[in-house]
Amino acid sequence: MAYGGYSYLDFKYRPDRENDFTVLVWAKSATSIEKTAEAIAAESSVGSWTKLSTMNDFVWTHYRARIFRIDKVEKNSGFIHIAYPLEHFDAKNVLQFQASVMGNIFGLKELEELYVFDISMPKRYQHQFTGPVHGLEGIRKMARTEKSRRPHVGTIVKPKVGLTPKEWAGVAYNAFAGGLDLVKDDENLVDQDFCKWKDRLHEVTKAIEKAGGETGQSHLYSSNITDKYSRMLERLDYLNSMGLQRHVVVMLDTYVMGMSALQEILEHTKHCRFATHGHRAGFAGPNRGNYGINFQIYEKFYRLLGIDQMHIGTGVGKMEGSPAVIKRLHEIADQQHVKEKFYLGSLEMEFSGHIKPMLAIASGGVDAGKVDALIALHGKDVNIQAGAGVHGHPGGTLRGAMSLVQAIEAHMKGVPAPQFAKTHYELKEALKKWGYSDPNEIRKGLEYERKHAKALDSLALRKGRPGMELME
Ligand code: 3PG
Repeated sequence: MAYGGYSYLDFKYRPDRENDFTVLVWAKSATSIEKTAEAIAAESSVGSWTKLSTMNDFVWTHYRARIFRIDKVEKNSGFIHIAYPLEHFDAKNVLQFQASVMGNIFGLKELEELYVFDISMPKRYQHQFTGPVHGLEGIRKMARTEKSRRPHVGTIVKPKVGLTPKEWAGVAYNAFAGGLDLVKDDENLVDQDFCKWKDRLHEVTKAIEKAGGETGQSHLYSSNITDKYSRMLERLDYLNSMGLQRHVVVMLDTYVMGMSALQEILEHTKHCRFATHGHRAGFAGPNRGNYGINFQIYEKFYRLLGIDQMHIGTGVGKMEGSPAVIKRLHEIADQQHVKEKFYLGSLEMEFSGHIKPMLAIASGGVDAGKVDALIALHGKDVNIQAGAGVHGHPGGTLRGAMSLVQAIEAHMKGVPAPQFAKTHYELKEALKKWGYSDPNEIRKGLEYERKHAKALDSLALRKGRPGMELME
């Protein structure tokens, strides 16, 4: 078996943890899975469609990709494990990595399906990145929750767009007054004429000060600066000139801006000591369907590049992602050692000791009735964030915020939300409107996964990608 005159199959090869990247890919095509694997390895490393007169032993030995395992599902489909030598990759250049491993291969015409599940990077590669400056603990310090260790609670002002700066800050003030830690811009609100970025910033900082004086809390505002690079820099300089590091978190639509702009702007946020908030709008385009790139790959780079708090989905809200899938994304956010879980298409990876954990953000279709389930899935190191689940409360924003805070208080006291609601009106109203998600369902699901890991693996192998959605 060969592609373009060379064979990349090397089933005896054992990846070297210090020096190799490993990549896990699902593929299906009109030809055999081995041939497809060869084509992918060639196109993403040293080869092409025909033999090259310019190939030499040194290049072949040192830079080629090696297919060290194939888990065949059908003759023409399966999971391909590929190792790439560290030297293949340019230093501090995520784009070159993307163009190699997640680039041309998607265009190969014989492919019917191609999904890059996961990557594992050696620590030597990670050393060129500094990771988050603040990270989970830094954000906790800003919100003064490092002792209580309770989950953070936040909101996204709604309507997503359209409010004037004063109206927007009025909503933010009510949310803070109700006890929320964080108010954030939506992913599609930056500097529109009806709500200029600077005007909004000034109004919100007044709201933070006023509410903070009343609640005694340290409230945070995630300000969306996403734009072309020069404008992001102008906004960052402005925030810096105002000395807003204690209360303003720089929000970035990480996926849509691309790795280059992200890498560059994070160097500046770190220089100015601003914490950062990553929103993943757009990631699902190439994350669903038969051709795609799993979000966990982007998430690993976001952590290496230095995002401090990151949207990872909820597992119980309005966005795609089963509890098992989201649990995995949570582990990538804040664990140093992320274990292999084959049926989720996931590889083992150890983050280098200097790469701090990020705070995971659970956002999208969340309300007070889902807090117990969210904590069962994410634990307490999480920022639970509800937009409509706050502003859609029958009592308005203030009471919506209170309902979330009460749900957290209930959890911290070990009391299930429905019981706590008997003496807490705002929580009661939220449960009446949106119902209660039973955390035991989440616990049962996670326990099932733990107990049946082997069976889930074999199901994944029999069915291919649909195996991932088992926990839904
Ligand atoms: C987000 O930024 O995550 C979404 O705007 C969430 O909005 P929702 O809480 O109203 O679903």
